[in-house]
Amino acid sequence: MITLGIEGTAHTLGVGVVDSEKVVLSNVIDMYRPEKGGLHPREAANHHADAVADTVVRAVREAGVSMKDLNLVSFSMGPGLGPCLRVAATAARSLSSRLNIPIMGVNHCIAHIEIGRATTGCRDPALLYASGGNTQVIAFANGRYRIFGETLDVGIGNMLDKLGRELGLGYYAGPAIERLASEGRNLLDLPYSVKGMDVSFSGIMTAALALRRKGHSLEDIAFSIQETCFGMLTEVTERAMAHIGKDEVLLGGGVAQNSRLRGMIKDMAEARGAEMFVPERKLCADNGAMIAWLGSIMHESGVRMGIDDTAVRQRFRTDDVPVTWRGRAAPRLSCPD
Ligand code: FE2
Repeated sequence: MITLGIEGTAHTLGVGVVDSEKVVLSNVIDMYRPEKGGLHPREAANHHADAVADTVVRAVREAGVSMKDLNLVSFSMGPGLGPCLRVAATAARSLSSRLNIPIMGVNHCIAHIEIGRATTGCRDPALLYASGGNTQVIAFANGRYRIFGETLDVGIGNMLDKLGRELGLGYYAGPAIERLASEGRNLLDLPYSVKGMDVSFSGIMTAALALRRKGHSLEDIAFSIQETCFGMLTEVTERAMAHIGKDEVLLGGGVAQNSRLRGMIKDMAEARGAEMFVPERKLCADNGAMIAWLGSIMHESGVRMGIDDTAVRQRFRTDDVPVTWRGRAAPRLSCPD
């Protein structure tokens, strides 16, 4: 079965094609980059609307198939930014009715965990999902993917991007902060904000900007923000793993590409006899292949949706989805370059 998936929850428009014979056939990404300022949902949605038709055509061509070979179309139903979600949903509905194939709306966060399970070899991990808009620790328990901890305000990626913008580092500032942090030596005092199993980032950014006004170097601020925030994430991830007895941890989301975060989680996992898994770069960040893959395994487990079931859900929670596909042998999905 060949499935085309459309991702459009935030800044990334992604279209991927997967084959249920366990191969990612294509995974095309077109990212909205604001000329100045932050991500504006309407402008991002306009970008996606302009790009989606060409991106679908490109993904199908790169997959080496034709439109008539598609058996299913899936799309990111939420959580995310309303205008962006609606572009992906509209494109998916239009493909479904034009090609007369079934449609599947999927939960974006669960797609991160399932593409990780399918491509890295982990079986039953706790997922640390750290991206622009989302920061959550998710794991499977009692028939659902449940959120064991999450941000109480902004996603860590949005905080780092906003901090970077205020510090003159440009937008999508995570890589610049990571480079600066590698030169930092002094751990400055920032609020370590863990509340129960949840975390909070907005006050940390305010404190970091105050340190800059006092004359501290960009390198030391970047180093301190990474050590503090990633330490918080590592703590709640470890406590979730201990609480639910998981011996695997999976990373997902754009911030999971940060090597310091990976190092901290790896050290934590090894210290407790657990193992860390990270999908390859293009499958770790937002992408269409993970949406296609989740749609495909949901369909194979018997889930069906009509067009009337495909309204987008900006606050779609992972534990709203009954998990019908676990219990089968986890397939291995390969992703050729
Ligand atoms: Fe994501």
